[in-house]
Amino acid sequence: MNSAISSTLSATAAPTDTVRSGLEGVLAAETRLSRVDGQRGQLTIAGYAVQELAPHVSFEALVHLLRQDRLPEQAELEALRAAIASQRALDPITVELLRQAARCGAAPIDALRLGLSALCLEGEPSPERLFGALPSVVAAYARLQAGLEPVAPDASLGCAGSFLLQLRGQRTRPEDERALETYWNTVADHGLNASTFSARVIASTGSDLGSAIAGALGALKGPLHGGAPGPALAALLALRAQPGDLAENTRRWVTAELAAGRRILGFGHRVYKVRDPRADVLKSAAARLLAGTDLLASAESHEAAVLEALRRAKPDRAIATNVEFYTALLLHGLGFEPALFTCIFALGRVAGWLAHVTEQTARGRLIRPDALYVGAEGRSLLHGATAAH
Ligand code: ACO
Repeated sequence: MNSAISSTLSATAAPTDTVRSGLEGVLAAETRLSRVDGQRGQLTIAGYAVQELAPHVSFEALVHLLRQDRLPEQAELEALRAAIASQRALDPITVELLRQAARCGAAPIDALRLGLSALCLEGEPSPERLFGALPSVVAAYARLQAGLEPVAPDASLGCAGSFLLQLRGQRTRPEDERALETYWNTVADHGLNASTFSARVIASTGSDLGSAIAGALGALKGPLHGGAPGPALAALLALRAQPGDLAENTRRWVTAELAAGRRILGFGHRVYKVRDPRADVLKSAAARLLAGTDLLASAESHEAAVLEALRRAKPDRAIATNVEFYTALLLHGLGFEPALFTCIFALGRVAGWLAHVTEQTARGRLIRPDALYVGAEGRSLLHGATAAH
């Protein structure tokens, strides 16, 4: 165990009266997967800068990197692609459950959790089963919600290509596959974010992989984490559709949102105190998809106005653009419905969740912090009780 971690643990071993409600600054694990430098705005994945890695390798190669700590040889890459591709088919029971969920109008992220639980009825899923079948669940559910039948996967395609085929019902342009892989690679791992930490906590109890991923999905769903891009896009599109100057409309909207006690989604980060480096990777990928429209220019103007209004309202807070703002633009450029955004995030982040579960299982201990008790003391049923029992 590294000395920084052991000193943190020994500091917490003797209970103090200081509560760190967000656990900021607490080192709870060692990881070789990604390094997040919030002061300099840098992210490296297994030692590679995200800007260099994400646009240039396949998603399967990134999965291999996280699992083996090195990029694959060609034969290894082909073997992994084939192993994942062989695991894409959904059981009829899973499809039937998704059909029922669509009738009930379940949110896609809830249907993904349902589909995951259904996969676990076959026994504990392997990582290949999760990489293969979770995209099939998302694509099948989106089609069922639209009144369409699921489309069979294509084993000759990689994860991104088959997912797009299963969603759209037709082969897609290579540039769309590349953009989706760039997105998945960019968001695949990011330190001890809330969903990854949730997965590690569950794995630390000795529970199974399906439970760890289900818990991570629950954490990802929240608007302060992976639920941010849908509302961020909705705000941009609504403000852009209003008459008048977009920047002025945005500034007024930010002021009203803050006055109502709401956050501006797509901005601010627990770790990054400067611009999130992932925002620029995704902005470049989105720019290629949105070429010929003025949406990117609108996004830039909206972003600048949000940052200016936040700086004015909270001058002592370092709030910068986070990954979710340009995620919204990229996923919109790929034609996905906003309701699917969090699921599509999950399909990339699952690579990090699985790698963290492996690390946790190999070296971690039960994660079990303390709470400072602030409740009543000395009560007894024997003295002056008046309530009915
Ligand atoms: N809008 C308005 N105010 C903000 C924002 C924001 N986006 N972000 C931080 N702040 C303010 C808070 O209101 C608070 O101000 P106050 O002390 O004057 O009340 C201050 O900054 C600190 O806020 P905390 O929530 O304590 O800071 P934290 O480091 O926990 O914030 C968080 C991180 C939750 C992501 C926050 O920036 C936020 O809510 N952002 C919007 C949601 C979002 O985009 N989430 C996606 C993050 S990226 C990801 O998870 C993949």
